[in-house]
Amino acid sequence: MASASCLSLLVLVALASAASAQLSSTFYDTSCPNALSTIKSGVAAAVAQEARMGASLLRLHFHDCFVQGCDASVLLNDTATFTGEQGANPNAGSIRGFNVVDNIKAQVEAVCPQTVSCADILAVAARDSVVALGGPSWTVLLGRRDSTTASLSQANSDLPAPSLDLANLIAAFANKGLSTTDMVALSGAHTIGQAQCQNFRAHIYNDTNINSAFATSLKANCPAASPNGDTNLAPLDTTTPNTFDNAYYNNLLSQKGLLHSDQQLFNGGSTDNTVMNYASNTAAFSSAFTTAIVNMGNISPLTGTQGQIRLSCWKVNS
Ligand code: HEM
Repeated sequence: MASASCLSLLVLVALASAASAQLSSTFYDTSCPNALSTIKSGVAAAVAQEARMGASLLRLHFHDCFVQGCDASVLLNDTATFTGEQGANPNAGSIRGFNVVDNIKAQVEAVCPQTVSCADILAVAARDSVVALGGPSWTVLLGRRDSTTASLSQANSDLPAPSLDLANLIAAFANKGLSTTDMVALSGAHTIGQAQCQNFRAHIYNDTNINSAFATSLKANCPAASPNGDTNLAPLDTTTPNTFDNAYYNNLLSQKGLLHSDQQLFNGGSTDNTVMNYASNTAAFSSAFTTAIVNMGNISPLTGTQGQIRLSCWKVNS
């Protein structure tokens, strides 16, 4: 009897710790030793074909984590009975990279069936994208599982808009348990990728905290009257658009932030000193960014027996 109750206590403890399991860098070491190399080569091929894809994959991880946590909810397509997040205002006509993720998932499934989650693929692809574009590396914590639901309403409410002022940017990240330092460092992701005219039009025409020559040059391809040129693109970092470096912060020092929200980080407020530090010190930025993105990757993961390992990233298992 004593040993039986001892055993059931052990089982209970094991179950409890599985349910509250933390992410771990070695999660797939035994179950899928080739997972990380498979993802890395998929990302490298995609970025070699189109540098911007590195930016798009990094942003997917962000838009995943800020809605229900890092659970690959952003990847779920709409169906007749299910509305996903892709139609949310910050996502519609904007987030990209789904085909790349689907291809990587197919390659990972081929080496390890139903073992590696789509949420983990997004986290690893974000890291590999940054590295492929010359940025710092970090150890990705793993063991996230995939959601069976998505939230259009949370995607609309919780993803920050480019019209936000500093206080609301700080609040949007605090809402996810991230600090102001994390927010400033993660915004450095805007050192790569592009934005549409409709997202920076108000900044270049209405704001005064913008370099006037910079604003003039952007207006040529972003007419004042919507919908003219709404989807025309401009690089978020005009200096080195396809290199993950600290040029974003130097742009802010010369009032060349593309988005209203970008320039808010250096606008006479509490984050000015952090921006100046990252602008002059690449190592300080790299260290802050890698810390912050690990923090972001820890937002409310599903672990243990929660959720599922999707077979296809775009749909819940049937
Ligand atoms: C601080 C609040 C943020 C706001 C308001 C914001 C807003 C935006 C907007 C409006 C765009 C352009 C979308 C378009 O025009 O189609 C964009 C692009 C992008 N964002 Fe953010 N973002 C923020 C933070 C982040 C974070 C934390 C990351 C990643 C860690 C990130 C990564 C990116 C990347 C890489 C792109 C370019 C994507 C591409 O070229 O496909 N952003 N963001």
